[in-house]
Amino acid sequence: MVPSTYTSLFLSSVVLLSVADPSTLDDTIVDVTDDDKVFAEVSRSKRHVPSVLSEIMGPLSRSKRQVQSEFVRSDLVYSRMRVLHLMLKYLIGPNGPEVEIRHFVNWDKTILIDNLFYVHPTTIQQVQRIIRVAAMMQMRVRATGEGHSRSPLYPDEGNIMMDVRDLTRFDGPRIELMRPNSERQYYTVKAMTGVYLYDLNEFFVKNGVTLIAEPLNNNETIGGMVSVSTHGSTWNGTGFGDFMVEVRIIDSMGRLRRFVREQHSELFKSLNCGLGMFGIMYDITLRVVTSKVVKVENRIVSLESILYNATKFGEIVTSNLATEISWYPFNSLTNTEAEEYANSSKVPGNWSARRDYLWLRTTNEVDGVNPSLIQGPNFLPTGGSLSGSNVTGLLRGKSALDLVRNLSPVTYHYLPDAFPILKPPRFGTETSTALFVTVDTEYKRPLTALQFLIEFTERQIRSNGTTPINALLPRLLMNSDCHICPANSNIQPVNSTGRSMVIDFLAPPSQAGYYDISREFVYRFRGDLVRPHWAKRFDNMPGVMDIIRNVYGDGIQKFMKSREDYRLDPCDLFMNKYLLQIFGQSKIC
Ligand SMILES: Cc1cc2nc3c(=O)[nH]c(=O)nc-3n(C[C@H](O)[C@H](O)[C@H](O)COP(=O)(O)OP(=O)(O)OC[C@H]3O[C@@H](n4cnc5c(N)ncnc54)[C@H](O)[C@@H]3O)c2cc1C
Ligand SMILES: *[C@@H]1O[C@H](CO)[C@@H](O)[C@H](O)[C@H]1NC(C)=O
Ligand SMILES: *[C@@H]1O[C@H](CO)[C@@H](O)[C@H](O)[C@H]1NC(C)=O
Ligand SMILES: *[C@@H]1O[C@H](CO)[C@@H](O)[C@H](O)[C@H]1NC(C)=O
Ligand SMILES: *[C@@H]1O[C@H](CO)[C@@H](O)[C@H](O)[C@H]1NC(C)=O
Ligand SMILES: *[C@@H]1O[C@H](CO)[C@@H](O)[C@H](O)[C@H]1NC(C)=O
Ligand SMILES: *[C@@H]1O[C@H](CO)[C@@H](O)[C@H](O)[C@H]1NC(C)=O
Ligand SMILES: *[C@@H]1O[C@H](CO)[C@@H](O)[C@H](O)[C@H]1NC(C)=O
Ligand SMILES: *[C@@H]1O[C@H](CO)[C@@H](O)[C@H](O)[C@H]1NC(C)=O
Repeated sequence: MVPSTYTSLFLSSVVLLSVADPSTLDDTIVDVTDDDKVFAEVSRSKRHVPSVLSEIMGPLSRSKRQVQSEFVRSDLVYSRMRVLHLMLKYLIGPNGPEVEIRHFVNWDKTILIDNLFYVHPTTIQQVQRIIRVAAMMQMRVRATGEGHSRSPLYPDEGNIMMDVRDLTRFDGPRIELMRPNSERQYYTVKAMTGVYLYDLNEFFVKNGVTLIAEPLNNNETIGGMVSVSTHGSTWNGTGFGDFMVEVRIIDSMGRLRRFVREQHSELFKSLNCGLGMFGIMYDITLRVVTSKVVKVENRIVSLESILYNATKFGEIVTSNLATEISWYPFNSLTNTEAEEYANSSKVPGNWSARRDYLWLRTTNEVDGVNPSLIQGPNFLPTGGSLSGSNVTGLLRGKSALDLVRNLSPVTYHYLPDAFPILKPPRFGTETSTALFVTVDTEYKRPLTALQFLIEFTERQIRSNGTTPINALLPRLLMNSDCHICPANSNIQPVNSTGRSMVIDFLAPPSQAGYYDISREFVYRFRGDLVRPHWAKRFDNMPGVMDIIRNVYGDGIQKFMKSREDYRLDPCDLFMNKYLLQIFGQSKIC
């Protein structure tokens, strides 16, 4: 309950506007016990920006650099946050969730936010209260899962980070299997957005169902994966968001809304990759298929034979359920050559990238496997770092490949356990850039793109004895009708196969040449409509904003229009500066 003094305080200082929703949207509102009705009214009304927040977002923001040192700036921000903190605590009330002032660092340490308000609600009522208080104070709120994204999808400094991982469901269990019924003739699984992929997969295996595509990482949340259209490497598999058939979302007025793909198909084309801009997703229903037993095969093959032969490349990617290709540069040295290199630091005159090897990992359905052979989740042999091996310098590539040589050539799994999982690195930080191009029927575009990166890397190794990347991981996936997904069927250059290739490359952010290779790649392939993964490192590439706007064209307008049409966030409560720069402001506030 909100003590009436709080309410009257705010009611007296604001003008109440009655916001009439189009009546067709009323049936999306889910009835929840809401002891916050008065608050809900206040939060609809015109708001009042505390001047301290304007200072934090304006003259005191890091990008303005008006203050001498980062320490001084950060302290000045912190002192203003203390004032806001008192106001927030007062409005949230003594029975509301805790609010903390925190410093935030994302998983690969590429995003640092000196000061933000961190909330960790466990009930829907707590989420509602936070949203309504934020709306009143004109603060912005962004959801976070595991914080594995490497791009500025997080809240701006001075605003609210809502950790959704421990939200509980008010009307059912955290993960639930739904059998085919009259409404849907297929199995679905409903899960809270904060559920981790490893828990979801365990549930899948127990219940004999699966998705057909998953990422290289199982330590991330369903909400995070839907929001950025996380992908795998299945030729017939789309991004994660496309498996979603129903979702419940808490909107910027704190109402719980329910949307179903069949009924709200236009909205789903946006929610498939919603970037957290459509509200706090509460739970998600995924369409699943019955579980398959699959065979995983590991092979070491010549780079030239696959990445310089379009026929062969095409045969491989279209004949396997999933195909993973990894190149760790400079991996073909013999032991003697490696020893010479270690002694002299001289790249052998007869080394070339074409001479190197690829790790080819394929996954396919099989029948009649003895159940005793079926193994659990498949962890990659990273040996300590994300890109494989714990060796530093150029000999890393060879030692990464040695780890692969020690793998069983064949293993069997239930499908969700066959997707490769990267173990958390034990040392070092490597970030990742991932860029998409559409795959044409002659495989010209994907191979030209890969060869550009391979040859760039080769030149730097030869001329400077360093590599710009530690691993090159191209993966293919099916495009979908989704407004801003990078694997997008609306981006249709000639002869499209209906698939995209995403090229992921890994290196520590400070490694020589890493940013140069990304920048030059994007510049070289802008005519081929290259586009970045929303969650990976790309904000450092000059001109990338224009590239994004050009690639998605009116997809961006449609994306913003559905946000407006469904009245999910009319006043940009769920935005941040970076997203406003790309998508612009809502026109219906
Ligand atoms: C080691 C590693 C491997 C990876 N491998 C792959 C891969 O193979 N394929 C691939 O495509 N990606 C991959 N990624 C990227 C990863 O899939 C995305 O960054 C994903 O978003 C991470 O989920 P998260 O829970 O950490 O989300 P966060 O990074 O915390 O959040 C991501 C976005 O989701 C939004 N969000 C989260 N929950 C909600 C919610 N409940 N409501 C509304 N918005 C929400 C956030 O606001 C934010 O915009 C990898 C990342 C790492 C670190
Ligand atoms: C998931 O990653 C976090 C760091 O982001 C780590 O602390 C945790 O141990 C990991 N959990 C699992 C099960 O891998
Ligand atoms: C390319 O691959 C095809 C199909 O596997 C094969 O028949 C052909 O000989 C290869 N070409 C070269 C030059 O190796
Ligand atoms: C993809 O799906 C099509 C149509 O169902 C099927 O014919 C083809 O074999 C599938 N390809 C792969 C690689 O799974
Ligand atoms: C490398 O150097 C060591 C020590 O100087 C030497 O014993 C060894 O023979 C050298 N190896 C090669 C291949 O040159
Ligand atoms: C490269 O040349 C060296 C001699 O300089 C030779 O020992 C080695 O086998 C050659 N490697 C390849 C792959 O041809
Ligand atoms: C590096 O990896 C190798 C092989 O996996 C292992 O034997 C060795 O102990 C590791 N070294 C360090 C410093 O972690
Ligand atoms: C499209 O495919 C046809 C037939 O395979 C080919 O002749 C043509 O060159 C391709 N066009 C482009 C732009 O790749
Ligand atoms: C060459 O290598 C050195 C490290 O040995 C590095 O500092 C420098 O940036 C590299 N230059 C280029 C152009 O990659």
